[in-house]
Amino acid sequence: MKILGIETSCDETAAAVVVDGVSILSNQIASQVEIHTRYGGIVPEVASRQHILAVIPIIEQAMAEAKATWSDLDGIAVTIGPGLAGSLLVGVNAAKAIALARRLPVTGVNHLEGHIYANWLTNSSPNFPPRFPLVCLIVSGGHSDLVLMRDHGDYVVLGRTRDDAAGEAFDKAARILGLGFPGGPAIEQAAKRGTASIQLPRAWLKGTNEFSFSGVKTALLRLVEGEKVSLSANQTSRLPTRADAAASFQEAVIDVLVTKAVAVAKELRVKQILLAGGVASNELLRKYLVGNSPIPVLVPDPVLCTDNAAMIAACGYYRFKAGKVDGLDLDVIPSLKLA
Ligand code: KG4
Ligand code: ZN
Repeated sequence: MKILGIETSCDETAAAVVVDGVSILSNQIASQVEIHTRYGGIVPEVASRQHILAVIPIIEQAMAEAKATWSDLDGIAVTIGPGLAGSLLVGVNAAKAIALARRLPVTGVNHLEGHIYANWLTNSSPNFPPRFPLVCLIVSGGHSDLVLMRDHGDYVVLGRTRDDAAGEAFDKAARILGLGFPGGPAIEQAAKRGTASIQLPRAWLKGTNEFSFSGVKTALLRLVEGEKVSLSANQTSRLPTRADAAASFQEAVIDVLVTKAVAVAKELRVKQILLAGGVASNELLRKYLVGNSPIPVLVPDPVLCTDNAAMIAACGYYRFKAGKVDGLDLDVIPSLKLA
């Protein structure tokens, strides 16, 4: 089954063609990051306008890279939420227009479910394919969720974040340290030049599967405001550097994420732990999880962790297999939940 996936929930316009939910024939992404960098964050109106400009060319590129014609396709999968309403609308309308014109079935995909299904594209891992029941740690710009997955499409949300999502915390910490946008990759790069020498607080929220990252972010802010960290390029003092602060922050967030994910996976005696979402492209998080879990871990390629359409096509394949076809009244749901 050849599925065209379309993803426009945030600031990447993406299209991909995937066979049977596992083989990627093409995976095209038009990033708007340079445009939003000027504003230090994503501007929703700018994002939707960029999607309008990019969506048709990116779909054409994905079809060309896959050497596919419209009649080769068996269906279209498109992200309907969660995400920015104006951005989601562009992808959903493009998908419906093609579905109508080419008489193809369309299925609406939850973006978070898409992130999880990036693991079904990770067929080079010795732990492939994912085995149920499993626990998935979804860490993106908007979410930090621990999810029990009992079967395809069957989710129990075990816990969420009470405040900032992990990716959001990375973005805010980067802003505090003057490291720019997007923050996750900037913190990761800076951390490589430093050591995690500062003890930052960890919110364990014992007895729950919830997270909280606002405390560690505020602690970092207080250190910078109190001039306990040197943000100067010419380091003359003995204070911890910006790189040390980045490394300490990264370690504090990852420590909590990994410890809590492994604990709940052990408690529920699941067969696997999956990692998903943009923050899952972080090398230290990947290493920590693999190194600290007695349960087999599956982590997608970094390029499949951040927003892409191959993961949407992979999820769409399982939706079509389960008979989940949507009508042309398919609409966006900006605050869509997983379960
Ligand atoms: O999944 P994603 O691409 O988009 C959303 O669905 O939100 O995640 C984006 C988030 C951003 O907050 C970004 O800073 C973070 O993922 N991120 C990272 C890394 N790469 C992206 N965080 C930590 N380390 C990274 N290497
Ligand atoms: Zn995402």
